[in-house]
Amino acid sequence: MSNNLFDFGMVGLGVMGQNLLLNMADHGFSVIGFDKDETKTAALENAATPGTTVKGVPDLAHMVEQLQSPRKVMMLVPAGKPVDDVIASLLPLLERGDVIIDGGNSHYTDTLRRVQSLEGTGVSFMGMGVSGGEQGARTGPSMMPGGNKEAYLHLKPVLESIAAKVNGEPCVAYLGKGGAGHYVKMVHNGIEYAIMQLISESYALLKHAGLNNDQLHEVFKSWNEGALQSFLVEITADIFLQKDDQSDQHLVDVISDKAGSKGTGKWTSQDSMELPVAVPVIDTAVAMRTISGYKDERVQAAALYVDPQLGEFSDAWIREVHDALYFATILSYAQGLAMLHQASKELAMDIPMPEVVSVWRGGCIIRSSLLEIFAKAYGQSPELPNILLNQDVAELVKSIEDNTRKVVAKAILAGVPAAGFMSSLGYFDAYRSERMPTNLIQAQRDYFGAHTYQRIDIPGTFHTEWGKN
Ligand code: 6PG
Repeated sequence: MSNNLFDFGMVGLGVMGQNLLLNMADHGFSVIGFDKDETKTAALENAATPGTTVKGVPDLAHMVEQLQSPRKVMMLVPAGKPVDDVIASLLPLLERGDVIIDGGNSHYTDTLRRVQSLEGTGVSFMGMGVSGGEQGARTGPSMMPGGNKEAYLHLKPVLESIAAKVNGEPCVAYLGKGGAGHYVKMVHNGIEYAIMQLISESYALLKHAGLNNDQLHEVFKSWNEGALQSFLVEITADIFLQKDDQSDQHLVDVISDKAGSKGTGKWTSQDSMELPVAVPVIDTAVAMRTISGYKDERVQAAALYVDPQLGEFSDAWIREVHDALYFATILSYAQGLAMLHQASKELAMDIPMPEVVSVWRGGCIIRSSLLEIFAKAYGQSPELPNILLNQDVAELVKSIEDNTRKVVAKAILAGVPAAGFMSSLGYFDAYRSERMPTNLIQAQRDYFGAHTYQRIDIPGTFHTEWGKN
């Protein structure tokens, strides 16, 4: 620490704030954190690795005056008004060239507004998605910063040193202008919702076929050792082993099926419709969490309608479900990445797609071996509108397409809910159609509303007095 001043400041010493600071300290940076709650400032200091420089203070001005210029202050406070309140308190204490970073899950439109409103002050504002939960923050998160590019250069050394590493490369990069960092994190979470939904459908399809928790553990464990290797499949395998400490059951069997959400998946769906870009697997994942909340109605409906019947499981069925999960997971990434590509242009964010997939390879919730394949695809063509257009991805998808169709068909016939799988296949079949039946929709629109249509053979806009010939 030069001049007894600290390298980095943090506002908000909840689990994420504390863990990120401790991670920085472990990498040789001197850090100081502010929280009004003195139990948290004390907890921060107590948790520090011996020999590292970590201080907690209950006074914001006291923290800022101990920071080296240009000052780098991150906040990890709840999204919304608390972020604006912290900015208002910080601004009078900061100077030109200082940088404020919002590391929470803010909506990108709020981030853009904050970036713009601070533009005249000389203080830069950056929105940064942070993924990986508590453990990731402490040992290596994936970080998605966006905003002022020059300001990022001040943050780069510390962020690169604390980030997760894949093949020695840090899982952090400058991801674009304005609210780009939070936009990328929002879509990350949309994909997270989609993959979690698909894993839960795979679970249903295997459980209805008779697999018990120990067998489910073995299946997901073996999947995680192959093409489906990913953080979410890995933790799923672990979950099936966990015993309940309040009964003799497995914990997963006594957990209520009402799924919670903090809203980032919903934001992804909402914003996709604004662009517009189609992300139906994400939409379906959001809808299924909503339906999971209709518990009382589902209990009534279950008494009215028949139960799913899938029959005995077989090795072939496990292989088919594996391939369907692989297929639909690729489709989830494809939709989310296509959304980012489009949003980058529409919202002038200049999001570098090769960097996005590179940053997602480690540390974050959606890290998976698939990201290496996508990194290669964007390496060949950074402006690819959809990864389904990449030759290698196409070969992979074609190799698992048949089994996906079998799984969807069997799920439909048996009555096992598999809307995520169906949705991925529905999107795929539309996306690979050179001619869709939407010419008929254009005809209908023109018929009842004179909305006009284009022809395939003659340029121009046409209207017909339908039914007159
Ligand atoms: C991450 C996660 C995290 C998110 C939780 C909860 O990347 O570490 O995306 O940021 O907040 O997963 O999300 P829901 O409560 O909406 O499921």
